[in-house]
Amino acid sequence: MSRVLLFVFSASAAVAGEVPPDAMALKHLVHQDCGSCHGMTLKGGLGPDIRAESLQHYDPETLGQVIQDGIPGTAMPPWQPLLTQTEINWVVDYLLTGEE
Ligand code: HEC
Repeated sequence: MSRVLLFVFSASAAVAGEVPPDAMALKHLVHQDCGSCHGMTLKGGLGPDIRAESLQHYDPETLGQVIQDGIPGTAMPPWQPLLTQTEINWVVDYLLTGEE
């Protein structure tokens, strides 16, 4: 029982202690780094169109997995080494809403 409470406490402390995602830096990353393959406007290039209207078949979890793990056997790299879970979640939200 106390173990469970300790776990819940430390998990929420970790979340509370985490630096909020830097929206400017992540927007830059999406357009520059993702854009180097998917096009600066994300309309597609080496990689496919990843504008919001093209990603509607994804639920956020699946899209997060694709960004996190990449697509093995293709040029789509895993981003997990470079982005935290919070940052990946931000990018997923940004891509799915297409907000500028
Ligand atoms: C080195 C090139 C490259 C970079 C950089 C890159 N991608 Fe990709 N991405 C690809 C390729 C190629 C595919 C298509 C793989 C395939 O054939 O299924 C792809 C596929 C995807 C898909 C699946 C699209 C679909 O219609 O199913 C998503 C989503 C995606 N990339 C998001 C991103 C995001 C977000 C970033 C930046 C964090 C990024 N990619 C960076 C090359 C890249």
